[in-house]
Amino acid sequence: MTVHFIGAGPGAADLITLRGRDLIAKSPICLYAGSLVPAALLDFCPKGARIVNTAPLSLDEIIAECADAHAKGHDVARLHSGDLSVWSAMGEQIRRLRALGIPFDVTPGVPAFAAAAAALEAELTLPGLVQSVVLTRTSGRASAMPEAEKLAAFAATGATLAIHLSIHVLEKVVTELTPFYGADCPIALVFRASWPDERIIRATLGSVDTELGEGERTALILVGRALGATDFAESRLYAGDYDRRFRPRGDAPRFPEGE
Ligand SMILES: C[S@@+](CC[C@H](N)C(=O)[O-])C[C@H]1O[C@@H](n2cnc3c(N)ncnc32)[C@H](O)[C@@H]1O
Repeated sequence: MTVHFIGAGPGAADLITLRGRDLIAKSPICLYAGSLVPAALLDFCPKGARIVNTAPLSLDEIIAECADAHAKGHDVARLHSGDLSVWSAMGEQIRRLRALGIPFDVTPGVPAFAAAAAALEAELTLPGLVQSVVLTRTSGRASAMPEAEKLAAFAATGATLAIHLSIHVLEKVVTELTPFYGADCPIALVFRASWPDERIIRATLGSVDTELGEGERTALILVGRALGATDFAESRLYAGDYDRRFRPRGDAPRFPEGE
């Protein structure tokens, strides 16, 4: 018996991995984390499966479901939106499962920031311009931000920012970032990336309508010079004269053919 933590992806049901889909199909119990997990994924559950929305449950109740399945020898498919490595609450669940000796494994999923970047047709790291992406959020009711992780600290690096769980404080985000990135810096709001009602707003920090933050909450704020940039270097990796293992170049290649 195993509890399979599965990244359910950002919204489109076909953005789950094949492994994740197959684990859902073989697990007689499915615990899914509310409305951000696409309902169509539940169609992969086997006939007669016990399917539980864990949004209204406490951690104790979720672990009790796992312990009950463990006692019966039933696998559990545990679905969380996007990927499990960020804001999934997986950490506290696996700590409890370890303490109880309940086996588990983890299958990654497509995170929301990647789906948003795809919707924007954007590479968030462009040679010579930006080489880092910061996945972050602002303080919420349930989670305060550690003192050192202020938006301003990340903004000082000039990295591309992918700001989660913060669309409702869009105005504050824009006010904090503008002194670092400049009013002409691109900002993109991606609402419900990959869902049928996906919506994209492109603007600059100076022009964005901050009232857009007052509606739909499932949204990412992306900020940085990589968004919409055309003036950036080409990667050396694919340069015609660049000597590399799979394409030796010059009189004395570093990696002679066959090595
Ligand atoms: C609790 S976090 C979950 C993050 C998720 N584990 C991931 O890998 O992206 C929820 C936040 O992620 C962002 N998010 C999740 N799905 C999204 C989507 N389809 N489009 C835009 N933002 C999304 C929003 O900022 C939302 O408030």
